[in-house]
Amino acid sequence: MQTFFDANRLNWDERAELHSTDTTGSYRIAKVLAGGSSLHAIEAEEVGDVAGLDVVHLQCHIGLDTLSLKHLGAASVTGLDFSPRSIAAARRFAEQAGTEARFVEASVYDAPAALGQTYDLAFVTWGAINWLPDLGAWAKVVAEVLRPGGRLYLLEGHPVMNQMEWEDGRFVAAYDRATPAADPLVVDNPVTYTGDSRTLRNSRNYEWLHPVGEIVSAVLAAGLRLDFLHEHDKLAWRAFPDMVEVGEDLFSVPEGAVTIPLAVSLGATKA
Ligand SMILES: C[S@@+](CC[C@H](N)C(=O)[O-])C[C@H]1O[C@@H](n2cnc3c(N)ncnc32)[C@H](O)[C@@H]1O
Repeated sequence: MQTFFDANRLNWDERAELHSTDTTGSYRIAKVLAGGSSLHAIEAEEVGDVAGLDVVHLQCHIGLDTLSLKHLGAASVTGLDFSPRSIAAARRFAEQAGTEARFVEASVYDAPAALGQTYDLAFVTWGAINWLPDLGAWAKVVAEVLRPGGRLYLLEGHPVMNQMEWEDGRFVAAYDRATPAADPLVVDNPVTYTGDSRTLRNSRNYEWLHPVGEIVSAVLAAGLRLDFLHEHDKLAWRAFPDMVEVGEDLFSVPEGAVTIPLAVSLGATKA
């Protein structure tokens, strides 16, 4: 398993360099540095009021959403990620924005010890759990970093969408619905998802698909109560070439194409 994580960390370190010098606009860097928010309309609405909350952003990447949550009124924000270059970029952005934030470098599976405190809100969005083989262990981590009454907000690319390739204007199911922990999907894409044409040296990475049932069951088994489960027909990146922009940095399938759920979100509370 460590081999998969090591490859993924190298890949994310390199992407952190590209994303923190992003010129495509997808990371909304200038907006965040000016005190604004990089949250998309979906998560901005669903996460609710964050004012006064102590927030942990798991798998925070270069920290722009972490800083955004502070700009939206959180009492404190902590971002956690296992990529040292992501954490370094996040700290640089916090300094440039003049925003108070803590960034912790650790595997998400080690989060409770690495963080050393509990939170009112765990924020996990757009491309986090597909890097994790064991959702049961992840959900236990989430429960452990939350205070009683604390809540999880999760928003992800939909696992059904992640099973698909796009061929001749339609979806074609290309990958099994659930990925065995020991046998991840091998992805070797020479470029990152922002549209940046710079190529990656460490392009190979390993991912796991988790069906919605597995996600919900893991969250419930960890002792959280499910507050909502939503499916969305919009996604925060152009996952397939013919996708059309239907909102600020939100993409959907072209008119006339068969629709599938593109994203899934859930809210859950620790009793
Ligand atoms: C697509 S990014 C998440 C994007 C994030 N929502 C944001 O605000 O930019 C995925 C992140 O997960 C991190 N990651 C992947 N596996 C991890 C692990 N086992 N522990 C901690 N972080 C991990 C990567 O380093 C990367 O920064």
